[in-house]
Formats: sequence, structure tokens, C-alpha cells
Amino acid sequence: MPTTANWNYPTALRFGAGRIAELPQALAAAGMSRPLLVTDAGLADLPVTHRVRGILEAAGIPVALFSDVRSNPVSANVDAGIAALRAGGHDGVVALGGGSGLDTGKVIAFMARQTRPIWDFEDIGDWWTRADPAGIFPIVAVPTTAGTGSEVGRAGVITDEVTHTKKVIFHPLMMPKVVIADPELTVGMPPFITVGTGFDALAHCLEAYCAKGYHPLADGIALEGMRLVFENLPKVHRDPGDLEARGHMMSAAAMGATAFQKGLGAVHALSHPVGALYDTHHGMTNAVFMPYVLAVNRPAIADRIGRLAAYLGLPPSFEAFLSAVLELRHNLGVPATLEAFGIPADGRDKVAAMAVVDPTAGSNPVTLTEELAREIFERAQTGRV
Ligand SMILES: NC(=O)c1ccc[n+]([C@@H]2O[C@H](COP(=O)([O-])OP(=O)(O)OC[C@H]3O[C@@H](n4cnc5c(N)ncnc54)[C@H](O)[C@@H]3O)[C@@H](O)[C@H]2O)c1
Ligand SMILES: [Fe+2]
Repeated sequence: MPTTANWNYPTALRFGAGRIAELPQALAAAGMSRPLLVTDAGLADLPVTHRVRGILEAAGIPVALFSDVRSNPVSANVDAGIAALRAGGHDGVVALGGGSGLDTGKVIAFMARQTRPIWDFEDIGDWWTRADPAGIFPIVAVPTTAGTGSEVGRAGVITDEVTHTKKVIFHPLMMPKVVIADPELTVGMPPFITVGTGFDALAHCLEAYCAKGYHPLADGIALEGMRLVFENLPKVHRDPGDLEARGHMMSAAAMGATAFQKGLGAVHALSHPVGALYDTHHGMTNAVFMPYVLAVNRPAIADRIGRLAAYLGLPPSFEAFLSAVLELRHNLGVPATLEAFGIPADGRDKVAAMAVVDPTAGSNPVTLTEELAREIFERAQTGRV
């Protein structure tokens, strides 16, 4: 693998170990000189954030940090960030973090000069056209996990605390102007987050590949993304400092989010309510649900999964791929059941009712009814694949 590369797909992306040093140039390319650095509370004091601040300070760029952001960020985090952005006279956002920091930073920049409330921009129909494009500030995205792919996405996932639902805020101009994908920044992830985010990347590729609809571009990206995860997630789990494998995981994350423009499916439709109700880690929740959703979707996806299995070097069958997912899950210590993950059985009906109206449900390869969502939940509860 070459150590660095520049891509313009789907946005300008500077890939490679150590490239965080180019952050000042990235800000200039994005047209900002007084950025607000947005990250989550957990990252605020970690070496990765100090490193980023140091690079900006050394370049004479004033640094203001906003980190009142929780995992599974809520709209109050966005509101406080908008206030900080406006009060500080900033002209753009550096979004630093996993999905939580990236999404919050992106939505803050998007809301910079909007006059309507955030929920008016939920990803429904053409609601995004309600936004004033001139009121959106530029974004430079710097991922510190390898999973959500939010750095190359045009949306942010924010939890509505009133309804306890995860909502997707969308606008084409929420796509970061420049991304720095530096695998060195992901080395310090706790193992649980390394595995969970890796499964999020896998879930994005897998669900996009299986989603209803005709999108061979997305299918091709998803296939290679899955190969990268199967090869490299075990490596980074074994050796957290393996920068080449960390780099491949960063690529897989960006590929997942590029592919899921085609659509997602029941893994995400169930994971979103579980995350909103029980504050679980998004990617790890996907990992728990993945084999059960594969099993119920089987009649609609068996052929496609056979082709995928062949590409991964497995026997060309649905069973072979399902076994590979179960093995990966087992080897990386993912809880096998919702029970082991700490989700109470009495959540079934509520989660099922929320899953069928989740925006990702519509593209699942078989229709996700409440009955089917309950069945997936039950299988995941008892471990019956
Ligand atoms: N925008 C999208 O398209 C999209 C896609 C999938 C998920 N999401 C959202 O992203 C969020 C999840 O993001 P995530 O899985 O990246 O986790 P996260 O951003 O919530 O981070 C998880 C934890 O890991 C810590 N962390 C992150 N990077 C670290 C590092 N390098 N070293 C040490 N600690 C680190 C964080 O401080 C946090 O405590 C959820 O809110 C989910 O809904 C968004
Ligand atoms: Fe996801």
C-alpha cells in the first residue's frame, strides 16, 4: 500500500499516516482562518486533540475548542455549539472525532446562520431545500475512529431528547470541504470502540450491498470495503499500532458511507432505536444485530451474498458468509445476544415500533414489518440465528 494518497472522491481527502500535519493547509483550502474545533467530551483531553491543537497553534491559527458533546449527541449539544460559533466570530468548523464529534461539528457548521429550528432539516423528502445555503459554514473533517464514515457524508445523526429518536439532518453542503484521514489518530481507540466502529463500517457496506434498488457503483465500493474489513479488523484488534491495517480500516469506513447513499437496512433500523433508548455504542449495536438480520433477509439476498462470499475467498454460498460473520464476531469479543449486551427483553415492542419508521427501514431487502422487527429482536435476545 502506498503510504499517502490524495483523493477527490467523494470529496477532497488527504489520506495517510502523519498527514494531520497538513491541517493548516487544509483550512486554507477550505477557506477558513478562524475555525471552531469541535470534538466530544471524551476526546477533549486526549493526546490526539492536544496534537491537533498544537499543529494549529504552531501555524498561528487561533484555537477555540468546543467539546460539550456527548456520545450519541443530542440537540442541546448542537445548540450550545452554534452559540459558541456565533459568539466567537468563527468562519468554519474543524470537526474532530468519531461519528459523535464529526456529526455535531458538521451540524453546527450547517446551522451557523440558519433561522429555522434544527428538526426542520430532517432528512425527509426535500426538506433540505428549506436551508439557506449562504448560511452554511465550511467544514474540515478529521476522523479519529474508523467506522461511521461521517467524514465523507452529507448528514449528521442527532438524538431528539424529547422523542428519544435518532434523527438524520441532511444537506448536500454538509459534505466536508476537506478530509484528513490519518490512521495515526485512530491508534488510541479503546478496543471496544475499534471493534464497534469496524463493525459499523462493515454494516454500512453490507447493508448498502443488500439494499433494494439499482446502484452498481455503490455495490462495487461496498464489496471492496467488506474485503478490507475482513482482512484488517482482526489485525488492528491484535496489534492496535498496525498503521497499515488502521489505514485500510479508515478507507473501509469512508467506503461504507460512500456506498450507503444507496440505502441501509434492518441492522440500522433496529440499532437506531436501541441506541436512542439505551445509549449503546452504535457500531457495537450493529454488530450484535448483524447475523440475525442476515438470516431473516436470506430469501432476498442469498445469490448476492454468494457472490460476495466468492469475492472474499470463501465458498460461494450464503452459509459461508454467515459463518464468517459469526466467526469474526466471536473472535473480536462482540456480545452474541442482546441479553449479553445488556438490553432488556421488555424493550422488544417499543424497539420494533420505532424500527419500522426509521428512515433506513425502507431499503431493507425484505419489507420490515413490526412483526419481522420483533422476530429479529427475539432472535437477537435468545441467540437463535
Ligand atoms: N453521519 C453518519 O453517516 C453516521 C453513520 C453512522 C453512525 N453515526 C453516528 O456516529 C456516532 C458514533 O460514532 P463512533 O462510533 O465513531 O463513536 P463516538 O464518536 O461516539 O466515539 C466513541 C467513544 O470513543 C472515543 N474516541 C473516539 N476516537 C478516539 C480515539 N482516537 N482515541 C480514544 N478515544 C476515542 C470518544 O471520545 C467516545 O467516548 C453515533 O451517534 C452514530 O449515530 C453517524
Ligand atoms: Fe452506522
